[in-house]
Formats: sequence, structure tokens, C-alpha cells
Amino acid sequence: MQKYLQKALTNQFTRASIAHFGQSLKPPVRVAITGAAGQIGYSLIFRVASGEMLGPNQPVILHLIDLPFAMTALNGVAMEIQDCAFPLVQGIVATDNQTVGFKDVNYALLVGAKPRGPGMERGDLLKDNGKIFTETGKYINDHASRDIKVVVVGNPCNTNCLILANQIKDIPKENFTAMTRLDHNRAQYQLADKLGVHSSDIRKIAIFGNHSPTMVPYIDQMTAKNHKATVDQQWVTQTFIPSVQQRGAEIIKARKLSSAASAGNAAMNHITTWVNGTAEGDYTSMAIPSDGSYGVPKGLIFSFPVTVKNGKYSIVQGLPISPFYQGLLDKTIKELVDERNAVDHLLK
Ligand code: NAD
Ligand code: LMR
Repeated sequence: MQKYLQKALTNQFTRASIAHFGQSLKPPVRVAITGAAGQIGYSLIFRVASGEMLGPNQPVILHLIDLPFAMTALNGVAMEIQDCAFPLVQGIVATDNQTVGFKDVNYALLVGAKPRGPGMERGDLLKDNGKIFTETGKYINDHASRDIKVVVVGNPCNTNCLILANQIKDIPKENFTAMTRLDHNRAQYQLADKLGVHSSDIRKIAIFGNHSPTMVPYIDQMTAKNHKATVDQQWVTQTFIPSVQQRGAEIIKARKLSSAASAGNAAMNHITTWVNGTAEGDYTSMAIPSDGSYGVPKGLIFSFPVTVKNGKYSIVQGLPISPFYQGLLDKTIKELVDERNAVDHLLK
């Protein structure tokens, strides 16, 4: 059934895309999404399929991966993709087999993991989800394209990415990243709201550190509508920073489920920026292997302000760090070092 589905979809979408876009199409790339039968998957996959992540000239072969028990639901998702007749989709691989799932994959959005429930912290998931990322790392190492770009979404995403990257032998470590773009987007909205401008007017802000309540939303260089912008420090410390740090928990409290559409959106934004670059004079936030910048221990998967050009990111150097921000950075560094120590056995 799976084989049939894949072949039928490949034929259908190859025809559709050629008819729609003529000669301007690039060769297809393979995009893997794990946890594809889950709630983030359901909001993410259709947008990737529509071309929103990689652009209107980039056909995709979707590799949708989930656990055996979720295969019936996943085939339902595959049928719905079929029913959208997306011009850019040239094939669907819906599978619980990671050898097949990661074969020749160019982009991987690793969502598959247990989400936290009310009252839990993301770090509480380390034990269960750590194992998943050890295994996935092995499959990616053995089967994926050597140019694969990976974003880890499943929590705790920084340390899951560390565990994953540890399994990789001959793909550059820089290709393994974790997602703090949701936090960046959340901060952007809060600041725009406070300043009475649109989110897209806010530039030069960043998230440092862990995707957890210790994350550091950094706004000392912020501009709004291309002018330096400041907000009062009391609002920053008492309202803004805690609200960005706790936004995930707030959503869980309201929805009784963790954020899904905004998380899927941010995962796409992460990859789009990685491929297309950052706007001139702006930066974004990506959790990447630390090179020691800002005193962060080498190798930790740490969110930094980055600029991106030609598919390569660079940490923005030399941002002034006030004693206030240094105190916050020390806390998030300590938390990530503690997480690394807690999974030491998975890093051997
Ligand atoms: P969900 O429970 O709806 O879906 C998770 C899916 O992953 C399920 O279908 C499950 O079967 C699958 N899965 C579990 N283990 C797997 C494995 N080894 N391989 C493939 N699939 C596997 O959860 P969700 O709401 O989609 O959230 C997924 C993850 O994303 C959670 O860890 C959540 O905490 C995290 N998340 C991260 C951010 C972020 O900003 N980094 C934001 C939101 C959610
Ligand atoms: C989020 O920030 O919304 C996600 O990491 C989900 C969570 O557990 O908070």
C-alpha cells in the first residue's frame, strides 16, 4: 500500500508540476519531517508542500516519518496531500522505517518527540526524547545526503540536537541546528505591540541560549522602522523577558496542547532563512554548535544572533553585553551544561 501510494503520487505530481511551472523548476529536493502524524506535522507539511518554505521553483519529495502505531493516520495525511494536488510535490514517502525515511534527504525537520504537558518543563523530556535523537542521528549519518540541513524542533531541542550531532561522523557539525526561531518571533511580536509598530518593523533582536525558561531575549541593539528603539527597563525585566520565556507554557495552559501552528511556522522560517539568507542589516536566532563566542563553552547547541549568506550562518560578533545580560547568559549557559552532563551517557 505504501509503495503504491508513493508511486501514484510521484506520477501525479511530476505531471502537475511540469504543467504548472514549465522549465523554471529546479531538480527536486527531499524534505524529511519526523512526527509527521502529530499536531505540528499537520500544520507544517502542507505549507512545505505548497512551496512556502523553499520557494515556488523548488519541487519537493516529502519524507513523512512517524512511529508504527501512527501509520494509519499518516497515510490519511498523505491522502490529503494528494487531494491538494500541489504542483511542487513530486513524491511522498510515508514510513515508519528510518532507513527509507532518511534516504538521500536534503532537509530534515525533526519534530517527532513527546511534547510536554501542563506543569512540566521541557527539560523533563530529556530522558524519553534523548533516546529518539540517538537513534535518528545514526540513520541520518548512514543514509541522508551529505549536504543535509537539520533543524531539531522536538524538545528539549538544544540538547536533543547535541545528542543527534554526536552520532554524526562525516557530515559537518554546522549542519545540525535547533529551533529558537519561535522565541525570536514571539519576542518580535511583543516588542512591536509595545512600540505600536508591525512585527516586521522590529530588527536586530535575538534569542541567546536554551529554548527554555532561561532563554535570553536580547534587545539592546533593537531598531524599529530602521531607527534605534528603546523600551523601559522595568517592562523589559518584569513583563517582556518573562512573557517570551513562558509563552510556550502559556499556550499549553490555554490550548491544553503545546503550540503547533506557530511552531511549524517557525521551523519553516528557520529553514527558509538558512537557505535564502538574512536581510541586509538584520539578524535572526538559530541554536547552533557554539564556537566559544560570548564565552559559551564550545560544542553546546546554543542560540546566537546569526546572519546567513549563501546557505552559511555566522554568529554576530561584538554585541555589547551589559552586566544584566551577562547574568542571564550565565544562567542559560549553566542550564545547558547541566543538560549536557545529564545526557553524558548518550554522548559517549
Ligand atoms: P504530537 O504528540 O502531536 O506529535 C508528535 C509525533 O511524533 C507523534 O505523531 C509521535 O508518534 C511522533 N514520534 C514520536 N517519536 C517518534 C520517533 N522516534 N520518530 C518519528 N516520530 C515520532 O506533538 P507535537 O505537538 O507535534 O510536538 C512535537 C515536539 O515538538 C514536542 O517535543 C514539542 O515539545 C516540540 N515543540 C518544540 C517547539 C520549539 O520551539 N522548539 C515548539 C513547539 C513544540
Ligand atoms: C513552545 O515553546 O511552545 C514549545 O517548546 C512547546 C513547549 O513545551 O513549550
